[in-house]
Amino acid sequence: MNRVSVLLPGSAYDILIGPGLLRSAGSSIRELLLCGKAFTVTDGNVGPLYGEALRESLLEAGIEPVLLTVPPGEGSKSEAVLSRLYTSMLAAKISRRDVVIALGGGVVGDLAGYVAATLLRGLPFVQIPTTLLAQVDSSVGGKTAINHQLGKNLIGAFHQPRLVLTDTDTLKTLPPREFACGMAEIVKHGAIADAELFSQIRDGQYDLETVIGRNCEIKRTFVEEDERDTGGRMTLNFGHTFGHVIEAQGGFSRYNHGEAVALGMVVAAELGERLGITKTGTSQELCAVLTKLGLPVRTGMTVDYTGIITDKKRMGGTLTLVLLKRIGEAVLCPIEVDRLTEVLR
Ligand SMILES: NC(=O)c1ccc[n+]([C@@H]2O[C@H](COP(=O)([O-])OP(=O)(O)OC[C@H]3O[C@@H](n4cnc5c(N)ncnc54)[C@H](O)[C@@H]3O)[C@@H](O)[C@H]2O)c1
Ligand SMILES: [Zn+2]
Repeated sequence: MNRVSVLLPGSAYDILIGPGLLRSAGSSIRELLLCGKAFTVTDGNVGPLYGEALRESLLEAGIEPVLLTVPPGEGSKSEAVLSRLYTSMLAAKISRRDVVIALGGGVVGDLAGYVAATLLRGLPFVQIPTTLLAQVDSSVGGKTAINHQLGKNLIGAFHQPRLVLTDTDTLKTLPPREFACGMAEIVKHGAIADAELFSQIRDGQYDLETVIGRNCEIKRTFVEEDERDTGGRMTLNFGHTFGHVIEAQGGFSRYNHGEAVALGMVVAAELGERLGITKTGTSQELCAVLTKLGLPVRTGMTVDYTGIITDKKRMGGTLTLVLLKRIGEAVLCPIEVDRLTEVLR
């Protein structure tokens, strides 16, 4: 088993990574002295696969389980679903001695996390991520959110979990396209902060449990430096500024998040090379590894990037972009919007 400890002002917690952890989830949660009920939020795909194992483990530890299932997919990060969860939990007389558990991917993690951040002014929260993306990215760092008609993740809060339990066995049932989505974020972590990790993925020479642990460490380091995402944590957005545009223009159906991030990383690397910031050949290196993982590197559509200038990170006439110096090292680059438009053209 791997353990990564996260230390933040006002909160410290462990991320445990290994096979079979779901079976001992109850006792791990009990060790945190959380002894009330466990309100577990899951989705319609994950619940039938892992809900029962978690329920049994909680019961064995003397914790009363309450399972709440939402429909799978991004649509559940909505006010309507949030409101239903509040009602179910309040009707079951939830109190601050209880714990909210997210059992599922990033959707369930963000949604249940936001419930935990807001209900009764904040409840203890435990993440049990079951997608590779959630295990290497969304379950670490305490960002929780639901979507608004006007955009993704616009209503949210920072609320750190008390524990993250990553059972690597759950990945066995993950569809290959979802697995590749998580690999895109792993490549991103390698590209911005760890050339060795990048090479291991490129060469297919790695142990998944170790890789997940390494990714949690990388994300932890950025989060510990800048919990509220006003500085260095932005580096984690590498490939995302362009990726979000591609994801939206594909109607959120043509490309999933990881695929859009793969495409966005290639755009950012090519742009960096053209601006003379990124070492020549870096975009080629990225394309090679992403292709090997079954991720796209070229869109089959014409993407209109002009929307980026209205990106929320825009400040005056400049936009801060995350670019690579080389594989393993990223820089935050303020760039004039006019210059960006010109180069993108
Ligand atoms: N909070 C953060 O820091 C952060 C970071 C990155 C992404 N996110 C959010 O994460 C979300 C995406 O997360 P995701 O990619 O995990 O998507 P997801 O939660 O929708 O899961 C993808 C699909 O896989 C299914 N699934 C999950 N685990 C499974 C398993 N073990 N076996 C079989 N099927 C399984 C789900 O039911 C779903 O259909 C987005 O909403 C994004 O905004 C948040
Ligand atoms: Zn992402």
